[in-house]
Amino acid sequence: MKSKEELYEKYIKPSLSDARRRSNKDTEYTYFSLNPTTKTIGKGKYYYIETYGCQGNEADSETMAGILEAIGFKKASKIEESDIIILNTCAIRENAENRAWGELGRLKSFKRNNPDLIIGFAGCMPQEEKTIKRLLEKYPHIDIVFGTHNIDKLPIYVEEAMFNKERVIEVYSKEGGIVDRLPKSRNHQYKAWVNIMFGCDEFCTYCIVPYTRGKERSRKKEDIIEEVKKLVNDGYQEITLLGQNVNAYGKDIKNSDYTFGDLLNDLAKTKIPRIRFTTSHPHDLDQKTMDAIQNNDNVMPFFHLPVQSGSNTILKKMNRHYTREEYIDVVKRLKEAVPGISITTDIIVGFPNESEEDFQDTLSLVDECQFEGAFTFIFSPREGTPAATFDDSINPMIKKERLRILNKKINDLYLKGNKRFVNEIVLVLVDGPSKNDETILSGYTEHNKLVNFKGDAKMIGKIVEVRIVEARTWFLIGEQIEKN
Ligand code: SAH
Ligand code: SF4
Ligand code: F3S
Repeated sequence: MKSKEELYEKYIKPSLSDARRRSNKDTEYTYFSLNPTTKTIGKGKYYYIETYGCQGNEADSETMAGILEAIGFKKASKIEESDIIILNTCAIRENAENRAWGELGRLKSFKRNNPDLIIGFAGCMPQEEKTIKRLLEKYPHIDIVFGTHNIDKLPIYVEEAMFNKERVIEVYSKEGGIVDRLPKSRNHQYKAWVNIMFGCDEFCTYCIVPYTRGKERSRKKEDIIEEVKKLVNDGYQEITLLGQNVNAYGKDIKNSDYTFGDLLNDLAKTKIPRIRFTTSHPHDLDQKTMDAIQNNDNVMPFFHLPVQSGSNTILKKMNRHYTREEYIDVVKRLKEAVPGISITTDIIVGFPNESEEDFQDTLSLVDECQFEGAFTFIFSPREGTPAATFDDSINPMIKKERLRILNKKINDLYLKGNKRFVNEIVLVLVDGPSKNDETILSGYTEHNKLVNFKGDAKMIGKIVEVRIVEARTWFLIGEQIEKN
C-alpha cells in the first residue's frame, strides 16, 4: 500500500507559487485537432456536466460538451443516465467550494450503482494544491482531474479512464498558449458566450482567479471575428464577450495598439443584433470603449463595473489601482458618453479590518453612482492570496449585518432602475417561457432588465417591442405590442 506522500507524487499537480509567476513570452496560438484514436470512444454513451462559478466556467463547460460530442458522447437528459459526469468547479469563495464538495459526496452512491461511471473534477478548484490533497485522501471514486489550462486534452483523459482504468490527475499551474477553434456545444440557441481573452494579471489581494486562470492572454481578433460571423450566420441574436478584465483586451499582444474599443467596433460591423461584455476593470476602461458603446447601436447600453469598496483605504489594501474619486469619475463619464446607460457592480463587505467608516464610504458611493444592481459578497479568505493573511478583528456578525444593510440599499436602487421604464416601449430578446408560468414569456431589454409578458411563443428567439406596465424589484411586467 502506497503512503499518502507517494500517492501525491505520482501525478501532475498544481502549485500556487508557480501560478503566481508571470513570463513576458508571447502567447502561442494553435488550433484544436482530435487524435483519430479517440474519435468514437464515446459512441452510445452519455455525458452530464455540472457547472459552478462565472460565465467563464459556463463557456468552458460548453467547450467540454463540444469536445465530448466530438468523440461520440451525447448529452444526458438526467444525471442518473450518464456514463461520464464532470463537475466544472469554482474556487472564488468558500461556499462555492463547499457546494462542489457536497455534490462530489453525493456522486459516491452513483459510482457504487455503476462502477463504469467516469467522474471528472475540473475548473478552478483543481488548480489549488489543497483540493488535490483532499481529493486523493478522501475521494477515491474520482477518475479524471484536470484544470483550466488543459481542457483540450479531455479526449485523452477519457480514453485513459475508460480503457486503462487509470486515475488521471493532470493540472498545470502555468498556462499554455491559446488553443483556438475548440468545438462547442452551446446551451442557448440565440445567445452565445464568446471568450476574447483568458487569465488575469490584476492580482487583487483577495482573489484566487489570477492563480487559477493564469496570465492575461488575448485571442487573435481574426479568430474572434470569425467565430462571431459564424454565430450571425447561425441566427444568434446576442453575444457576450468574456474575459476577467475585458478592458485589457489586446494589451498583451506586442507591436499592436488594437484594444477593446477597436474590437467592439469591428464586432459591431458583423451585424450581430446585440453585443454585451463582462467583466470590466475600472482602471483599464478607456474613452475608445465608451465611444464604441455610444456609436454602435448593437453594443448594449449596460455596463457591469465592479467597484468592490467605496473606501480608499480598503481599495488600496485590495490592490485595485484606483481611488473612490477616480471610480466615481469613470461612472460619470460613462453616463455622459452613453445617456441612460444602466450600471451594475460587485461589492465585497467585511474585507479584513474594514471599519464602520470604510463601510459607510461604500454606502455613500453606491448612492452617488446609483447602481441598478449589484452582486454583493462577504469577504472569503482564499488560501495563497495575500488578503488571507491580513489581520482581521471584525466580528462575523457585523459583516453579516453590513451585507444586509447594503443589500437593502441595492434592492431599492434595483427597483428604482426598473421604474424608469414604466410606460416606455422597450426591445426584448425573448428567451422562452418564464420560470414560474408557462403562459408568460420572458427576456431581457437592451439595458439588461428582465421582462415578463404574455405573448406568442412564435416570438421566442426574436427581438420584439414590449410596453412596460409595471416595475417590480427583480423584473418588469410588460404587454405585447400588437403589430398590424
Ligand atoms: N474579474 C471579475 C470577476 C471576478 S470574480 C472582476 O474583476 O470583477 C467576481 C466577484 O467575486 C468579484 O468582483 C468580487 O466582488 C468577488 N470576489 C472575488 N474574490 C472574493 C473573495 N475572496 N471573497 C469574496 N468575494 C470575492
Ligand atoms: Fe480577481 Fe481582480 Fe482579476 Fe477580477 S480583476 S479576476 S477580482 S484579480
Ligand atoms: Fe470561479 Fe474560476 Fe470563475 S474561481 S468565478 S470559476 S474564474
